Amino acid sequence: MRRLRRTDSLRALVRETRLDLDDLVMPLFACPGEGVVRPVEGLDGIAQRSVDELVREAGELSSLGVRAVLVFGIPEQKDEEGSGAWEPEGIVQRALRALRAEVPGLTLVTDVCLCEYTSHGHCGVVHDGEVANDKTLELLARTAASHVEAGADVVAPSDMMDGRVAAIRAVLPDTPIISYAAKYASAFYGPFREVAESTPAFGDRRGYQMDPPNVREALRECALDLEEGADALMVKPALPYLDVIRAVRERFDCPVAAYNVSGEYAMVKAAAAAGHLDERAAALESLVAIKRAGADLVFTYWAKDVARWL
Ligand code: PBG
Repeated sequence: MRRLRRTDSLRALVRETRLDLDDLVMPLFACPGEGVVRPVEGLDGIAQRSVDELVREAGELSSLGVRAVLVFGIPEQKDEEGSGAWEPEGIVQRALRALRAEVPGLTLVTDVCLCEYTSHGHCGVVHDGEVANDKTLELLARTAASHVEAGADVVAPSDMMDGRVAAIRAVLPDTPIISYAAKYASAFYGPFREVAESTPAFGDRRGYQMDPPNVREALRECALDLEEGADALMVKPALPYLDVIRAVRERFDCPVAAYNVSGEYAMVKAAAAAGHLDERAAALESLVAIKRAGADLVFTYWAKDVARWL
């Protein structure tokens, strides 16, 4: 077996999986203000940025060859319903209009969810202590439509309400939908919730996000989302769920996405900062493993670094 491992070029000739910048999506966080770049502890390289700074960062990403970004917003104010999510002058809508105008050619994906906008931090409206599924659907559809109105190319619902893809498809017949179909109630979202200021004020998300031990259930989620009109399916997180990515890949012929989440990124950053491992090698190995498991595209905080590394 060692004959083909002898040199760089031999190894490259027989390489089965390749990491390609074309497949990566970089998450970005828009916040109010001007000239604001607020770094996040533990997520070195990631920051909340005001629209002007976000445009600057997106321009840099685009010139490095990154082709797509995932836009999140941190609103000025939150309320019970999360109305900031669909306001025409909301933070994501303003960011999208600026990105559309200033960085043409960059594909703009938006995360469709209410948790950054609700005062309680849940992904939908709360009634009697529970997230009300059907009441939330209309608000998600409104949010997705407002994103497209402001310039989004693709919407990615991440709330995990039942029927949200159908609700969004009904108002957006022509917009690609990448559905967070198999999204687990994971401990690995911790750093994201710090940056997005979206930790639930009470309870947790296990009433709507998936239970980590389940994989057959993930396939049912995926089948439903495709029936409802999703164009691509996402598995999230990525590294602890490579088996799920593989199962989804084998069952469905649509594009499969994986989200290499904030906790996966933060672990490597922390270990690298402590001198325990080499960040670049660990990041590239992680990303190629996610592709090898079957992902066609990967949402990752390393997209900008990969652009420099490759
Ligand atoms: C919004 C959302 C979350 C993430 C993406 N969209 C957080 C959550 O569900 O709590 C997590 C991303 C990450 O950890 O990098 N619902």
